[in-house]
Amino acid sequence: MMQPTHSLPRRRSDDSSHVTSTPRVLLGIGGGIAAYKACELLRLLTESGHDVQPIPTRSALRFVGTATWEALSGHPVAWDVWSAVPDVPHVRLGRTAELIVVAPATADLLAKAAHGLADDLLSATLLTARCPVLYAPAMHTEMWEHPATRDNVETLRRRGGIVMDPANGRLTGADSGPGRLPEPVEIAEVARLLLARPDALPRDLAGVRVLISAGGTREPLDPVRFLGNRSSGRQGWALARVAAARGATVSVVAANVELPDPAGARMIRVGTAEQMRAAMLDAAAQADVVVMAAAVADFRPRDTHEHKIKKDAGEPDAVVLASTPDILTELVAVRRTGQVIVGFAAETGDAERDVLAHGRAKLVRKGCDLLVVNAVGEGKAFGVDTNAAVILGSDGTSVEVGHGPKTHLAAVVLDAVSARLIGSAG
Ligand code: CTP
Repeated sequence: MMQPTHSLPRRRSDDSSHVTSTPRVLLGIGGGIAAYKACELLRLLTESGHDVQPIPTRSALRFVGTATWEALSGHPVAWDVWSAVPDVPHVRLGRTAELIVVAPATADLLAKAAHGLADDLLSATLLTARCPVLYAPAMHTEMWEHPATRDNVETLRRRGGIVMDPANGRLTGADSGPGRLPEPVEIAEVARLLLARPDALPRDLAGVRVLISAGGTREPLDPVRFLGNRSSGRQGWALARVAAARGATVSVVAANVELPDPAGARMIRVGTAEQMRAAMLDAAAQADVVVMAAAVADFRPRDTHEHKIKKDAGEPDAVVLASTPDILTELVAVRRTGQVIVGFAAETGDAERDVLAHGRAKLVRKGCDLLVVNAVGEGKAFGVDTNAAVILGSDGTSVEVGHGPKTHLAAVVLDAVSARLIGSAG
């Protein structure tokens, strides 16, 4: 495969010369009911400033018509190679694309791409393109699990295509299982990562079992009140998505996260620090990589009231706090040989030490291999889609990751993990 272009996506111009303008993202839409979700994906990509040319297949147009794709993208749309023939559209589109996203990637489209068929504009363009190609599959579970589809996916991945795992859930009609299109926000996140860093998703974690904790624990005071924190789970979700796209088998222990599940990950739901501890220690016994991205409460109310504390019962007692277990330290204490353990540290500087000095001390104290240190406060880290950090290694290394989407930070963290896995295997 030729090297993809490394420049950042260009903003779409406002002039009306769109017929000959150079679209940077091609959105291939297969003929499945999930085609309607590709409208949302198209919107997400254009709203973040990308110029997107939709290329529906003929059968995709039976689900969502040309007018919708043209109105949402601002580009004329064709499904065959017989429109604008002098322009040789499949060659022009393929050569100028920075990224092709195929969503939904039906079983038929995956088969065509794997075998190099070229009987319409999308399949022909897939052959002329030399940029990264991201496939977001959607089909019935039986079709996804069929050996023919498994082989086609394997072929595409071997050639450098990025085939996401489908989500697990409700399919067309009443049945459910793996085969649902990953959420448009998730596809858009992976697409943006590839546009910014075309080499961000090698299959270097194939066969690696990655366990990630995400979200924030809640420690109950009574049936309606708790001590909690601002963690949204976005960083843990980004790690899960990027690890899965790099081939890992991903398990997520999630505390109080209200985001759609990352596609392809095994989900374990918990609420409190104690529940997270039990779930992590149990799952870590089968993991090659453990990432503690969750914000775990350090303290919990010592007494949990069985009934709601009523305000007419007089002035309440002071809440007495008790320490929670330090899960990361326990995970390090029972680590399997060769297991890579990553901690996160949300820090603010104080009068004695700056953020990094706190981070270095914490890395030593916790005994993990990598510590991702981010400064918190003033809208940073919690509840937002972006993050900046320094990744400290127990071997004295330090990698600075500038402000950017949480998927970028996730990719750099997993680069460091991958290097350590290779190091310990060699
Ligand atoms: N952590 C944990 N168990 C806890 C508290 C934290 O496993 N009870 C993990 C977090 O998931 C994170 C790392 O430890 O990966 C550092 O968390 P942080 O809150 O920054 O550190 P603390 O150990 O709580 O220290 P302090 O709050 O005093 O900075």
